[in-house]
Amino acid sequence: MTTTIRKCTLQDLQALKEISIQTFDDTFRAKNKPENIDVYLKMTFQSSLLAEELAHPSSEFYFIYYNNQLAGYLKVNTSDAQTEKMDKNSLEIERLYLLSSFQKKGLGDEWMKFAFKRAKELNKHSIWLGVWEKNENAVAFYKKYGFEKVGAHSFYMGDEEQVDWIFSVAL
Ligand SMILES: CC(C)(COP(=O)(O)OP(=O)(O)OC[C@H]1O[C@@H](n2cnc3c(N)ncnc32)[C@H](O)[C@@H]1OP(=O)(O)O)[C@@H](O)C(=O)NCCC(=O)NCCS
Repeated sequence: MTTTIRKCTLQDLQALKEISIQTFDDTFRAKNKPENIDVYLKMTFQSSLLAEELAHPSSEFYFIYYNNQLAGYLKVNTSDAQTEKMDKNSLEIERLYLLSSFQKKGLGDEWMKFAFKRAKELNKHSIWLGVWEKNENAVAFYKKYGFEKVGAHSFYMGDEEQVDWIFSVAL
């Protein structure tokens, strides 16, 4: 098997939109009200917003391919692109997703190694992320890579208040 990671450009907008919607839907629909998920998907993954995110100088999107098939995407932020006020020496993993059929094949490990490598290249001292407390799979995955809970914040999925745990790891 071959695994390739490459940086996304504006040319990838449509593919990025499709994989963003699909992976979010697969991950969260079962544990949420369908109407809340529908609105969230429509608002968050609008082409115009994704295009702005792709153009942001402090955000980077990547695609991962497994045997030349698109398998997932990653979004990392630094400096003012971070979604919380954080240290300028930190890198945020904002989105890290694999399509269901490509999970448990080692690609999560590839993503994590890549994120650590990228953070070091950018001279960052830590990586942080927000993860829904009920996303037990992702919580266990991040703990495996040394992430620890350093805080929490509220997040609204439609009319429902949810808690995201803030996880961080020093490099
Ligand atoms: C989280 C996710 C990226 C993990 O990817 P994956 O393909 O399952 O991970 P891998 O197979 O590469 O596993 C990497 C390591 O993490 C471990 N791991 C993965 N999931 C785990 C879990 N639920 N509990 C404990 N360990 C876990 C694996 O055992 C492996 O370690 P090992 O090599 O020592 O066995 C993937 O499940 C996913 O995309 N989930 C849906 C999206 C999501 O929730 N994203 C996070 C949003 S914050």
